Amino acid sequence: MRPALSDYQHLASGKVRELYRVDAGHLLFVASDRISAYDHILDSEIPDKGRILTAMSVFFFGHLDAPNHLAGPPDDERIPAEALGRALVVEQLEMLPVEAVARGYLTGSGLIDYQKTGGLCGIELPEGLVEASKFAEPIFTPASKAEFGQHDENISFDDVVELVGAARADQLRERTLQIYRQGAEHALAKGIILADTKFEFGVDRNGELNLADEVFTPDSSRYWRADEYTEGVVQKSFDKQFVRNWLTSPESGWDRDGDQSPPPLPTEIVMATRARYIEAYERISGLRFDDWIGASA
Ligand SMILES: Nc1ncnc2c1ncn2[C@@H]1O[C@H](COP(=O)(O)OP(=O)(O)O)[C@@H](O)[C@H]1O
Ligand SMILES: [Mg+2]
Repeated sequence: MRPALSDYQHLASGKVRELYRVDAGHLLFVASDRISAYDHILDSEIPDKGRILTAMSVFFFGHLDAPNHLAGPPDDERIPAEALGRALVVEQLEMLPVEAVARGYLTGSGLIDYQKTGGLCGIELPEGLVEASKFAEPIFTPASKAEFGQHDENISFDDVVELVGAARADQLRERTLQIYRQGAEHALAKGIILADTKFEFGVDRNGELNLADEVFTPDSSRYWRADEYTEGVVQKSFDKQFVRNWLTSPESGWDRDGDQSPPPLPTEIVMATRARYIEAYERISGLRFDDWIGASA
């Protein structure tokens, strides 16, 4: 018989995930249906988002040539029935205090820093780059792990060396770029640009570097439609386009610059967004979400 969620000690809540203790070396890693936009966790949840993102991570963990934190299959008998499909048993790692970001394109905080300094995270970049410019080669642009509610801050490679040591920093950069190249190449063949992505790594008992957390989900990566890509303009977000459009429309009545939290999303926005996440998963994995564990429950 499967355990109940309440049989496990709750360890921590992230913005999107809940962590429980399975045993001395393992965690139950449970993704919720929470969604964020414009730096707010919304009141509305997207049904099945936790399952879809878990399915995507499992797909990519399997596809990538890199050790990862998975410690059992998605139907592992240690997973409670109530969490099936959105939970994974993972190896508890000593997490490195660095957001391992890889960028293939210039946007977001990268563009802001580039406009201020002409470079990014201490890397010199050519002149004349604009919104959504593609780099000649993907770059490693680490960030500090911010406290809850704060923005991550871009840091230099030297800062990473200070945080984790020279050898580990080299390995982190190399691994980040290798995984990004492999994932982005796969997605592009399916019509999706992974413009940038954030990985989290941890070290296991043998001192090995493992890819942890989630990987190449729309929460950790910018998804753009390859057939709509245009340099010089802000690209539409593949997954959050409807949410963002609605929140910034007069209809929502929300003032993005005020201090109110966003209003609940209308059902049609919720369902359209759910369909987008499913479309992203199915396109990229070539699998059907209906076949994912617990999907039709
Ligand atoms: N294998 C692991 N061992 C220990 N901690 C992990 C592991 N994988 C991920 N984590 C941590 O679990 C948390 C995941 O929760 P999440 O909601 O994604 O957090 P965040 O709000 O930081 O994005 C993060 O703090 C992440 O660093
Ligand atoms: Mg996270």
